[in-house]
Parts: sequence; structure tokens; C-alpha cells
Amino acid sequence: MKSVASAPGKIILFGEHFVVHGTKAVLCSIDKRITATSQFVDERIVRIRSSLGEAEMDIDSLDNLENVQQKFMRPFFHVAKKTLMENSTKQGIEITIESEIPAGVGLGSSSSACVAVTASVNGLFRKLSSEEVVKIAIQAERTIFEQNSGADSSVSTFGGLVSYDLKSGFQPIPSRNDLSFIISNSAQVHNTQDVVRQVRQFKEKNEDLFNRLCKEEMDIINNAIISLRENNLNKLGLLMLKNHELLKQIGVSTEKIDLLIKEAKKTAHGAKITGAGGGGCIIALVDNSNIKDTLDNLRKISDCFIAKIDYDGLQYV
Ligand code: PMV
Repeated sequence: MKSVASAPGKIILFGEHFVVHGTKAVLCSIDKRITATSQFVDERIVRIRSSLGEAEMDIDSLDNLENVQQKFMRPFFHVAKKTLMENSTKQGIEITIESEIPAGVGLGSSSSACVAVTASVNGLFRKLSSEEVVKIAIQAERTIFEQNSGADSSVSTFGGLVSYDLKSGFQPIPSRNDLSFIISNSAQVHNTQDVVRQVRQFKEKNEDLFNRLCKEEMDIINNAIISLRENNLNKLGLLMLKNHELLKQIGVSTEKIDLLIKEAKKTAHGAKITGAGGGGCIIALVDNSNIKDTLDNLRKISDCFIAKIDYDGLQYV
């Protein structure tokens, strides 16, 4: 018996970093997925196969996740161990993870893998509800990133376009915009925690400026939510460029990212970093009128692909 589940990656349209300090962010899941396939094996082991590597652990040595050398795999071992214990089975599990999402560049690959693995492993026993999956996936991801807000796992599980803030959590944005983005990868791998720490230091040194930037960000986001409802691409694009300027001011852009934005701006409605920055990806908002030119230009200097909003979220296959 095989249990298969898939979950989408995500982009942040507005508000990264500032959201950590109390403003809102706008996120959406994208039509690039991670698929996890689980099956029982007779040995008492958990085996994980993925394009980023393979690992196998004895179930009894999983009490301490520090035993798992490849850190990014710890959440998957956590989920497997928890599920096997709760269902008191003598068997082991093999999990195969297949991804369409580049890793480590701010597209939510780690969270969508946690969501897909949680649903797939548990599906060997019982199909969990989305609410159950997201709770376990967030716990799993916290085995490697303790302060994780849960934003990525939530948008991956439920899909669509959402706003998020620390106080009120998630609010779906009631729209079915068929937006198209070009995602262009700077090929500079970033570490979210390091970049978040740098921004905190920036805030401590520039308290007044940072507060002003938070207010500007809030204005941008309030306008963006209206523009999303109106499907006003020109306005949305301008707001993305404004948001990118704020991200530059807090020091999370790089020369390569600025070059990608400069190129994207020539033809797209707008462009900005998505995610922590310090490398990673940019998103450029396009439609039929400018998608080809933007793609041609960005392809000369980066790896890129087209993404649309995913409204499905977690799916059992
Ligand atoms: O680069 P990503 O996709 O991990 O996004 C990080 C977003 C931040 O706002 C910088 C951090 C956070 O937890 O919200």
C-alpha cells in the first residue's frame, strides 16, 4: 500500500521581515509542488529518499533527532516516529520526496515537504484533516527552526491568497485572481534565520527609521489588498516596487537581486524580493502582454520559471 500526498510552495507578495515586527504580510501558494509517497517496510527503520539525499535511521535511535546528520531531514523523521508510535505498529516506513520547488531560496520547500510528508505518512493509517496536518507539520518544522511562524505551512496546506499577522494569524483574501509571476532565482542560497537576525540588529540601531518603514509597509499592504480585490495589476506592480525599496533600506537585497529587479522592471508590472532576501528569489508580476519579454530578459541572467497562484493546497493523490 502506498499513501501519496502533495503540497504547494509559496511566495510572499508583500511584507516579509516587517511581519516579524508586527505588520501584515500577504502570501500565496504557487503551482509548484512537493509530493511525498509513503509505504511500509518490514524492518524497524525509517528511510527517506529525496533528490537532496537519502537517509535511513533505526526507529529506536530516533528519540534524539540530533542523531540525524542531515538536518533538513529531521522534521520528516520526527513525523514518521510520532506516527508509528501513535499507531503502535511494528513496521517501518519508507518515504520518497519529489520536488518541483528549488530548495533554500525562499519558496517554502521545507514547509511544503513537511505538509506533504505529514499527510502521506499518516495516510497509511488514516487521512488527516487539513487542520490536523498543519498542526503536526508546524511542530515538525520547529525541530529545525524553532521560531517558525507557521505561515508557510499554513498557506501550503490551505492554498490560495492570504494575509497574515502575528496577532490575528491568517485571513484568506477573498479573491480568485489568476495572477502570473516570473520567479527568478539569484542562485545565492540564503539562511532565513541569519537574515532575520541582521534585520533585528538594523532595527535596534535605527529604531525611528525602522518604525517609519513599518508604517510605510502597512500602507503598501492595505493598498495591495484593495488592488488584489480590484485585480489592478499596474497598481499592484508599483506597490511591489515600493515594497522592494523598503527591503533595500533594511539591507536584505544584494547586487544580484538588484540586477534582477532592474531587468524585470523594464517590462513587468513590478518586481521584488520574495522571502528573507540576502539572495534567494525575486518575483515579477506579469500578464500576457509582457510575460515573454520579461522571461527572455531574465533568462539571460538567471534561472527562472512561471508560477501562478495555487488554490488547492494539500492534496491526497
Ligand atoms: O525566505 P523565507 O521564505 O523563509 O521567508 C522568510 C520570511 C520572513 O518574514 C523574513 C521571516 C518570517 O518568519 O516571516
